[in-house]
Amino acid sequence: MKVIITENYEDMSRKASEIIIDLLKNKPKCVLGLATGTTPIGLYKNLIKAYNDGEVSFKEVTTANLDEYVGLQKDHDQSYDYFMHHNLFNYVDIKEENLNIPDGSKQDLQKECARYSEFLMANRQDLQVLGIGSNGHIGFNEPGTPFDSATHVVNLTESTIKDNSRLFNDISEVPTKAVTMGIGEIMKSKTVLILASGANKAQAVYDTVKKQPNENCPASVLQNHPDCILIADKEAAKLL
Ligand code: PGA
Repeated sequence: MKVIITENYEDMSRKASEIIIDLLKNKPKCVLGLATGTTPIGLYKNLIKAYNDGEVSFKEVTTANLDEYVGLQKDHDQSYDYFMHHNLFNYVDIKEENLNIPDGSKQDLQKECARYSEFLMANRQDLQVLGIGSNGHIGFNEPGTPFDSATHVVNLTESTIKDNSRLFNDISEVPTKAVTMGIGEIMKSKTVLILASGANKAQAVYDTVKKQPNENCPASVLQNHPDCILIADKEAAKLL
């Protein structure tokens, strides 16, 4: 794993966007795995700027998002479909038919997981963006998830529900389940770009980089990936 430590959030976002801009220039018809959460917002702002400056186009890009809450409709302002449209998709020339996010509003979630896994098998990500949970999760693969898992439904842990409650009116509104891309499917991406910002990620970053890969810290699996780049700001990297 290549570890890059930056001065602050802006530098982390800039470095991450440079890597993706390079990919878009070298391979305009790529499969881009994307993540939600607070961490990649700066990266997406930079990508929108690069598009507005005429530096890159998303016309031929296919996206593959990591996860989605179960039970929220797409137009709910905390759904990840809504997040992606409002933080990136609505501002670039990406085609709606090329966007892929697991659908957590489906009645038959097992069927939805199988559909998403099939899509990923046919569309290997050129690059997968990841954030990291304070408990080391990637996507919504919580501690204990097998490293070879495919897309599945998860029960969110108390710590994840608490972390995410800041975005809802009340913790009781946070969904307790989600559909997530599996760790095995994240590992199939040609390149993995994992971002971490802030002191509340410091322990997870330490466990990811320094501990033997183990299921208690899902992100530690990335030590086994042939092309993984971790970009952490100074606060997130302070225990390294
Ligand atoms: P955050 O979430 O970017 O909002 O901190 C990261 C994650 O839970 O994967």
